[in-house]
Amino acid sequence: MLEELKGIFASVFGEKEGLRFFFAPGRVNLIGEHTDYNGGHVFPCALTMGTYAAVAERNDGVVRMYSDNFKDAGIKECSLDDIRYQKEDDWANYPKGVIYEFQQRGYSVPHGFDIVFSGNIPNGAGLSSSASIELLMGVVLQSYFHPEVDALELVKMAQHAENTFIGVNCGIMDQFAIGMGKKHHAMLLNCDTLDYEYSKLDVSGLALVIANTNKKRTLADSSYNTRRQECNDALLDLQKALDIVSLGDIKPSDFDANSGLIQNETNRRRAKHAVYENHRAIKTAHMFKENNIDEIGLLMKESHLSLKDDYEVTCPELDELVFAAWEHEGVIGSRMTGAGFGGCTISIVKDAFVDDFIQKVGDRYQEKTGLKADFYVADIGEGARELKGE
Ligand code: GLA
Repeated sequence: MLEELKGIFASVFGEKEGLRFFFAPGRVNLIGEHTDYNGGHVFPCALTMGTYAAVAERNDGVVRMYSDNFKDAGIKECSLDDIRYQKEDDWANYPKGVIYEFQQRGYSVPHGFDIVFSGNIPNGAGLSSSASIELLMGVVLQSYFHPEVDALELVKMAQHAENTFIGVNCGIMDQFAIGMGKKHHAMLLNCDTLDYEYSKLDVSGLALVIANTNKKRTLADSSYNTRRQECNDALLDLQKALDIVSLGDIKPSDFDANSGLIQNETNRRRAKHAVYENHRAIKTAHMFKENNIDEIGLLMKESHLSLKDDYEVTCPELDELVFAAWEHEGVIGSRMTGAGFGGCTISIVKDAFVDDFIQKVGDRYQEKTGLKADFYVADIGEGARELKGE
């Protein structure tokens, strides 16, 4: 990969001395969906798929960026004195947002770069290619100029850049999983306190299989913000009688006893999902410790049904892919993963059945939807970093 990147760099910007290489993964969430911005728990992990960068320093204030994934877009250029969101800069707004965030926080960016990006995360599949490129730019700036910035601060900066510079009101899960990922581990993150613990995914004989619906995500951003608003309205109703700061503060039993406080029926279902899903994420991490795989399968099923019926962020394609997986004899559990409205599912599959699973689930999905799914056996990797002799 690095040799290839070097070649692309040379053909785009010419041969340069002292190239440095960086990598940031994509992420997949095992469970705990739409809980991050509700002060709940998530249980994601970093993938070995991700985004690579080859970087050469410049001695002026110019940043030139090229992505091998968007060849037709050509080289994007900006000046460090004038970093602004520009629609025509398209993908390059993500790294620009992180540069801007550094500057806003008083971390100087003394000179520019020539950078080539190249990634192997499928675009728009909900595996966080955007958070990946944000963290990638973050580690570049950290490594060259600001080693005092720790990984958690980078994560927060990347999320803030996405919220304010890009204008997508996401929670912290994606940036956290990508910044803090650890090989063979998922992480149980409390999104309210940012306390976290790694959980070894020590499931011998089992594989994590990601399946991409290849359904283009539609309306995802606006519906995402609507869900946030609905949860917030439900919280305000609950706060009339309960001393809580987020939906992550309530246990399912307390929610059931008080859900009548929520006036609007839709908002009540949204909040129910957030509360129960938070509980499922905590329980799943616990079940991994106990090696209680069957229980994990049930929790994944409940999670999907709740996202389908109460949170309403699945779509026929996600449902078909999950239903087909549930019927396969080699499956422990399966659910949609990420924001929803398209994107991917995650399944736990017995090793010996992986090929058969891909074949049969893929065929059935195609029969039902006319779409061809892509499958990846997930490999859980490290977080964003400079590649030195790797
Ligand atoms: C997107 C957001 C995350 C999270 C998930 C849903 O990936 O970026 O912050 O809210 O959706 O769990």
